[in-house]
Amino acid sequence: STTESPRLTVIGTGYLGATHAICMAVLGFDVLGVDVDERKVARLAAGEVPFFEPGLPELLTKALESGRLRFTTSFEEAGEFGDVHFVCVGTPQRPGSDAADLTYVDAAVRSLAPHLTRRALVVGKSTVPVGTAGRLTSLLNELAPAGDEVELAWNPEFLREGFAVDDTMRPDRLVFGVASEWADERLRAAFAPILELGTPVVKTDLATAELVKVAANSFLATKISYINAMAEVCEAVGADIKDLADSLALDDRIGGKFLKPGLGFGGGCLPKDIRAFAHRAEELGVGQAVAFLREVDDINRRRRARTVDLVRELLGGQISGARIACWGAAFKPNSDDIRDAPALDVARTMHGLGGHVRVFDPAALDNARRAFPELRYGDSALDVAEDADVVVLLTEWADFRQVDPEALSTVVKHKRIVDGRHALDAAQWRGAGWEYRALGRN
Ligand code: UGA
Repeated sequence: STTESPRLTVIGTGYLGATHAICMAVLGFDVLGVDVDERKVARLAAGEVPFFEPGLPELLTKALESGRLRFTTSFEEAGEFGDVHFVCVGTPQRPGSDAADLTYVDAAVRSLAPHLTRRALVVGKSTVPVGTAGRLTSLLNELAPAGDEVELAWNPEFLREGFAVDDTMRPDRLVFGVASEWADERLRAAFAPILELGTPVVKTDLATAELVKVAANSFLATKISYINAMAEVCEAVGADIKDLADSLALDDRIGGKFLKPGLGFGGGCLPKDIRAFAHRAEELGVGQAVAFLREVDDINRRRRARTVDLVRELLGGQISGARIACWGAAFKPNSDDIRDAPALDVARTMHGLGGHVRVFDPAALDNARRAFPELRYGDSALDVAEDADVVVLLTEWADFRQVDPEALSTVVKHKRIVDGRHALDAAQWRGAGWEYRALGRN
């Protein structure tokens, strides 16, 4: 019956899927996590979260102990078990193209469909080019033994790394892209504990639900690049981007969130999502409507180059041979994710220019080491700063904010710091005798 709690499967146990599966089990659902990666399944089943996310390991333990969460590699088991199947696999950028790679989404649906022998709802959560849901609906109806008894819905996910648990348990809104009342009822049942909190729901069609996600990420990326474009103008006239941004932020209509100037955005979502959206819009003949996203991308890439320029300037014109301490590797603080990380991009560029670069990050060190063994790494912010000619803050971890400039003075060779994230108190550092520089500030 539709009134009792549906049994859930979550296909894809990466960042999004693992978080969703764990949180849903903690909320009281019976959940089966499904992944083709046997190692990932084994680790999760053993209570180990394969990535850094505050609060999630504790919830995984709790969910496993409750007996409501299991993991499998079997799609047959998933088909038998589930009433509602969430598709949470990745959609990375296709190599050599701006388009999204839908290989994993298609494979998930193709693997599950033959095992759907009774009425079921498949719910897409992955970030996809608009129009994908329509195509997947036909595929499901064609491949599932239950035919058009199997329905597709779209429920985009807006969780942020570092806040994944909270964003999942208490989202700002839920978007339900549905093709029938039945699908809407099933989704409401699958989100009942979250709806009870008064969470707003937008009920809409499949295409709109797909678009909401890319529109949201594009807006966030645009807001960041907007303030960074203003920083470029500030640099040309000796104006101050910090004061400018603070002034804009005080206008409620603008607001201060995602208006922090600096090195710009990276990660596994914003950069590839704006590219895939621009590409998809071009395919649909409306490329002009979002052509500005190419500018957003360009402004963002320029930040990395300009940060290197600022370091060079502070060093008196020469990166080669300089000892450079890099603080941060993750694409943002409270994460170990180094996908398209601006910090590592800058560190690698300076290494390529002959700088003696040493990197420290509180969480992403292992990932960085594995991906870029050519760089040198250290054990702490102070360790990498030993005898440094310049310190460069690239990811705004709280640990770096807490470093005492006086203590750091005794370690470095030259008291020079580039604050790539406007994270430090300029007056405090200058007061301690440091040459402090930040993009967009005099
Ligand atoms: C982003 C969105 O914020 C989520 O809502 C979305 O669900 C997710 O992508 C996704 O599509 O899965 P996330 O990639 O975790 O989340 O990271 P953000 O917190 O959005 O930060 C993205 C980048 O923007 C970081 O590199 C951060 O340093 C940078 N940023 C952020 C700025 O440069 N300035 C700001 O003011 C804010």
